[in-house]
Amino acid sequence: MAVTNGSAHVLYRQSGAVGVITINNPPVNALAKDVRISIAELIDLAQTDKLIKAIVICGAGRNFCGGADIREFNTPNRAVRPMTRHLMNLVEESDKPVVAAIHGPTLGGGLELAMGCHYRIVDSEAKLGLPEVHRGVVPGAGGTQRLPRLVGFQKGLEMITSGTPVDAATALEIGLVDRIVTDADLVARAIAYASKLVEQNVVPRRTSEIEIDLNLKEGEAVVAEVRARLEKSARGMEAPFRCLESVANTLTMSFRDGWAREAEISEEAVASDESRSLVHSFFAERQTSKIPDIPADIPRRKIEKVAILGAGTMGGGIAMSFANAGMDVTVIEASQENLDKGLARIEGNYDVTRKRGRLTDEEMAARMACISGSVDMAAVSEADLVIEAVFEEMEVKKSVFTELDRLAKDGAILATNTSTLDVDAIAAITKRPEDVLGLHFFSPANVMTLLEVVRAEKTSKDIIATVLDLSKKLGKTGVVVGVCDGFVGNRMLAPYFRQCDFLVEEGALPQDVDRVIETFGFRMGPFRVYDLAGLDISWAIEKRRAETRPAEERFSPLLGRICDLGRYGQKTGAGWYKYEDGRTAVPDPLIETMLTERSAEMGINRRDISDEEILQRCIYSLINEGAKILEEDLAIRASDIDVIWQHGYGFPRWRGGPMFYADTVGLAEVVKTLDHFHAEWGDKWEPTALLRELADSGSSFKEWDKGRTG
Ligand code: NAI
Repeated sequence: MAVTNGSAHVLYRQSGAVGVITINNPPVNALAKDVRISIAELIDLAQTDKLIKAIVICGAGRNFCGGADIREFNTPNRAVRPMTRHLMNLVEESDKPVVAAIHGPTLGGGLELAMGCHYRIVDSEAKLGLPEVHRGVVPGAGGTQRLPRLVGFQKGLEMITSGTPVDAATALEIGLVDRIVTDADLVARAIAYASKLVEQNVVPRRTSEIEIDLNLKEGEAVVAEVRARLEKSARGMEAPFRCLESVANTLTMSFRDGWAREAEISEEAVASDESRSLVHSFFAERQTSKIPDIPADIPRRKIEKVAILGAGTMGGGIAMSFANAGMDVTVIEASQENLDKGLARIEGNYDVTRKRGRLTDEEMAARMACISGSVDMAAVSEADLVIEAVFEEMEVKKSVFTELDRLAKDGAILATNTSTLDVDAIAAITKRPEDVLGLHFFSPANVMTLLEVVRAEKTSKDIIATVLDLSKKLGKTGVVVGVCDGFVGNRMLAPYFRQCDFLVEEGALPQDVDRVIETFGFRMGPFRVYDLAGLDISWAIEKRRAETRPAEERFSPLLGRICDLGRYGQKTGAGWYKYEDGRTAVPDPLIETMLTERSAEMGINRRDISDEEILQRCIYSLINEGAKILEEDLAIRASDIDVIWQHGYGFPRWRGGPMFYADTVGLAEVVKTLDHFHAEWGDKWEPTALLRELADSGSSFKEWDKGRTG
């Protein structure tokens, strides 16, 4: 068997009459510039080689081809010819049949390359899809034109607008691939398949020449239906609609014209804020585990046994997170009655999921089997990690940590899930403050993917690294934060909610604020969040905080007045809104009356507040507080704050997070508006020194981050 080196990243060999092109560009065989050039050269070479009758393209390592190289986005290399979209055509134009041998995740440009081939043979474990929409872009290498031709218009449109991949069996069923290989050498089978095509004189079957399966009228009906769905699920976004437009072009345009238009649509998408924000979000998540003063290879502590103190709302949810990851966990309660209640609640939660068909009986049993209960605090003595989730009272926490210090084994990690208390003070109760940190889970803890890892003054480096690894195992994104009231997320939430309260006192209605925030991209506006979380809970926290906060930082008494009416939110059928069917928020004239009275009482003439002002006051209050947090060194990077807001508070991922959004608007512009607010409403709005400095020097949070971690 002759072996020829194509290049460092693409290998070439001949097997009988088949030329085998192997993409060998670890880690994911991305279509970087050199890879594209080599594949094109090898396809060319095969055309003139008389001994070669067919071609197989396959990938070395763990997948066929990972698609466009995300690191080339926004760099000149992306435009070096052949660009990915030309490459697929060059492959398709081959006069000799080309077979793609597909294994592993084959997404985006990887699948577009496979569709440029004439035949496709796939490993049974492969995943195939066009997830570009998740990065704010459009499949731009012929994907929107080829997929609907291969799998049918409707299926293609759904796959491209949702970005959801299919498994190998489905790919075969919908006509995306021709053969599945199970438990066999995929490349050998692909070569045999290609040889057979040669024997049978099979000619290239070019995807671009396949007719679309629907006529114009049928196709337009499908487009209208999908558009209506996207208008609800992808409100405010552009990429899903760009995908829709490009796929719809297959109904009216030739392949060539549709392909040319796809390139234009794709270029617009690549240059959009949405795409830049999503690429930022992708890298921001990968940064969170890099801590400047903690070496990546610092030895970790082992975590096999986990104990949780308290089986309430949080303790139960945290226990479920561990059980979902297949880890054993012991839940410890103060009394048998509370323990039984806690375990029953966990079982009830799993049962809801089971009844919805998202968990089998066996899976539920396996998860419940991971969770054991105890009423004896001594049960912590075996644990490598103890997470305290008891009542939010310093005295209770202190007594629990005194006990923990006595009972836990040496080297155990002692974590508190406190949401507001001083972790340094909790650590100081023990004789081993270096083993103590905060693990701030978000409610519901079994669902929410954010974990604030609170690094206290004396917390040792190795336990930070250990819990960051653990967070991944739990399917969560751990972000390191410093000790302050509310840590990063809830601290920023306070000025945001304060603005919401001011806005309704000055003239806006809850539904106005919610509409603006939801149009911006949050799944829920602040007043609907209030109602869902329970006004009684917010009011209790507020009353406690009011004892220590200056008057100007206190929330409006309206919250208390609404609670006095027994309106605690959705759970009582009314709060800021009415919930006549128990679920749908309906504006309530009574609230408007209460707001009017409140404004009069404060001597405020209610006015029309523009959507722009509502948005700026809400989002810029987050940005300014975020900048203060960076100044105080309580978060490592601006991008960490973005991750916190996306994973913990529903900030739209496609806007990149509050700090990246500030960069998108331009920091000079943000500061100008803050200066204006400052002049109007006083000190609370004064731009922080960091924000002003970055704005004055024409810099951005992204630049500032580079200085922090390179
Ligand atoms: P919860 O009141 O639902 O649960 C607390 C549980 O701890 C109760 O079941 C109680 O019986 C048990 N407990 C009290 N003292 C104990 C002791 N000495 N030993 C064993 N168990 C004991 O409260 P929740 O909401 O679960 O909050 C727990 C902690 O999590 C608090 O520190 C809270 O601030 C924090 N947190 C709460 C969030 C939430 O949304 N509820 C979010 C993030 C953190």
